[in-house]
Amino acid sequence: MAHERISTRSEEYITRLFSKESASLKEISKALRADGKFGINVSPYEGKLLHFFIRLIRAKTVVEIGTLYGYSTVWMAEALPEDGKIVSIEKNPENFERAMTLVKAAPAASKIDLRCGDAVELLRELDLTADLVFIDADKGNYANYLSWAVRHVRPGGLIIGDNTFLFGHMIGEDRGERAGEKAIAAMTAFNETLAKSDEFVSIMIPTFEGMTVAMRKH
Ligand code: DHB
Ligand code: MG
Repeated sequence: MAHERISTRSEEYITRLFSKESASLKEISKALRADGKFGINVSPYEGKLLHFFIRLIRAKTVVEIGTLYGYSTVWMAEALPEDGKIVSIEKNPENFERAMTLVKAAPAASKIDLRCGDAVELLRELDLTADLVFIDADKGNYANYLSWAVRHVRPGGLIIGDNTFLFGHMIGEDRGERAGEKAIAAMTAFNETLAKSDEFVSIMIPTFEGMTVAMRKH
């Protein structure tokens, strides 16, 4: 299901000036379009925003939950130092295979470790300290992913969630997109937990889909 993404003039301006895609990113974008999945990925300027955050906090270890075709993965990997690493988890085997092929062709491929499986299960075995955790998978599990992220992100590190307006549901905006009760409950818990936490300083960036950004204080 591809989503209509409203591109405002401000977004278009930012994209034109600040979101130049590498050849690898253009290829992934082309593949998403060809397969009718364009719009499920982050937009170019959101990709650049993730890239910016990686450099800002000098991240070396990144965990991404929800790879799709690796579009955000490559945006982030391109910001990592040579010895940086991004572990990215994708549940859907077809998406995973496409991502493997597309990412392998990218110069940043050596920094990318793609894994196929259920993230709740794979994360149980993933014992590392992350500088940044980017959550962009099934919305009904956001609270579970957050619970892993708060236990594994370093002080000064970031937890970023995409789609945290939940297709308009969090802000009472009907975009003709349905979300199940589980997703509504999970996203409410995700945003409210971070908003209330003393361990994190958090904010939302009002992208069309909503992006919640939280930094662990100590
Ligand atoms: C969908 C998922 C996303 O992460 C997104 O950014 C847009 C749409 C979806 O599942 O439809
Ligand atoms: Mg998303």
